[in-house]
Amino acid sequence: MEIIHVSAECYPVAKAGGLGDVVGALPKYQTAAGHVSKVVLPMYRTKFLYEHQWDVVHKSSAYLANTWFDYTIIKERTNVLGFDLYLVDIHGLLDREKVYGYDDDVERFMSFQIAVVDWIASWKHHPDIIHVHDHHTALIPFMVKYCYQYQHLAGVPTVLTIHNAQYQGWIDWGHSDYIPHWDGWRWGMLDWNNMINPLAAGIRSCWKLTTVSWSYLQEMRLESNGLEALFEYEKGKSVGILNGIDDKVWDPAADKYLDHHFNIDSLATGKKANKDFLCQEFGLDPNKPLFIFIGRLVGEKAAELLPRAIGDSLFYINQRMNWLVLGSGETHIEWDLGNMRHFWPGVYNAKIGYNEKLSHQMYAGADFLLMPSRVEPCGLNQMYAMRYGTIPVVRRTGGLRDTVKDFGEPGGYGICFNQASIGDITQAVYRGVELYQDQRTFDALRRQVMELNFSWDISAEQYLDLYKSLVP
Ligand code: ADP
Ligand code: GLC
Repeated sequence: MEIIHVSAECYPVAKAGGLGDVVGALPKYQTAAGHVSKVVLPMYRTKFLYEHQWDVVHKSSAYLANTWFDYTIIKERTNVLGFDLYLVDIHGLLDREKVYGYDDDVERFMSFQIAVVDWIASWKHHPDIIHVHDHHTALIPFMVKYCYQYQHLAGVPTVLTIHNAQYQGWIDWGHSDYIPHWDGWRWGMLDWNNMINPLAAGIRSCWKLTTVSWSYLQEMRLESNGLEALFEYEKGKSVGILNGIDDKVWDPAADKYLDHHFNIDSLATGKKANKDFLCQEFGLDPNKPLFIFIGRLVGEKAAELLPRAIGDSLFYINQRMNWLVLGSGETHIEWDLGNMRHFWPGVYNAKIGYNEKLSHQMYAGADFLLMPSRVEPCGLNQMYAMRYGTIPVVRRTGGLRDTVKDFGEPGGYGICFNQASIGDITQAVYRGVELYQDQRTFDALRRQVMELNFSWDISAEQYLDLYKSLVP
């Protein structure tokens, strides 16, 4: 089968969060299973671009509203990532360092999608599946169905995976001419509350819709930033497929970012060596349990609760633990978390920014990982943590609910709580501190989480079954 993934992120080329991890891993597993899995993403000016060799495979032009733009498609020469990687270059729009966050993101991702469809439309054959991810690429299922010049692609099955329905990519109707000449009778497919809503258009137009966990799919019918009724209406074509993790990249026995490798047999000494390193580096006490948080500092992750929740836990639980935070996001949260370093020296530290290497070192050296997320479509951090023998402390929501079972339940191994509140977080941390004192149970749980299998093998198979149901 030939599968074309179209995405805004793909690790290690460009990553802002979990979307990058998923698109960097799933195609690798599909290729290894004998399929042709290709990834197409914008040609940002990232380090990866300059460190690899590329061949130009296509050059052409297309329209964005009344303006012609030239685009070029290049392909990575050596298949270094384990799948075919293509980048789309559009001068003046995609040639930037960051993935998102520009005033003209609408124009950037619109022109990217047009170029991708225009390129695929020029092929002599049709791919078996076009698989798009999130709102940046969600207009593609609409375009192949309802744009006149691409209608010969209308028979190509499209799959939309929603990694995060909070962001929908709203476009003002004044820009409806951004979408190449389309069947005006279909305006209802684009519209949601008097705006063009790319995510809603993708949900309606795609052949199959997936979310990255089963619980998230259920939750979307109750609360999804205005799209509840649509998720309910389209439930017949929707399916939840839990993300996997790339167990080659995230392997404590071979992780390129770690100085001290370990496996389940050397868990105790391996974790200790990594924890000692972190504590030394950040001035923390290796004899106390180490709690970490890694992630985007935004409301979805309940990150604004962290300063008080961490402060309360240190105060009320008598500094019986250490904290280390790694994250970037909203300025006021960055500022609060950065400032707290002065109040709790020796038991709290934070690194504000994005640091891939440090994240690996933290999963390896920590005892507990906190994720109090308000919304978590899947969440990869908790799965990485468990592979590195770190106990997850999570709010019961979305993918966290599907991957973590409280150690108080039969067969459980993590710590779960219900509310994204300071009280619930502090209580959960207290349970962690107590658990750490019971070294035998704690060790048994660490072994148990390391043995769980979150590899892509299972989920990649589920995607293939889904594709097969669409391909004649
Ligand atoms: P989301 O995609 O919503 O941010 P996920 O849990 O799916 O959440 O994935 C987050 C990914 O981004 C993980 O690989 C995590 O380690 C990484 N990450 C998040 N913030 C940082 C950071 N500040 N530095 C390094 N890695 C980070
Ligand atoms: C999104 C979600 C996260 C998920 C990731 C990969 O960014 O917020 O929960 O793990 O996508 O699917």
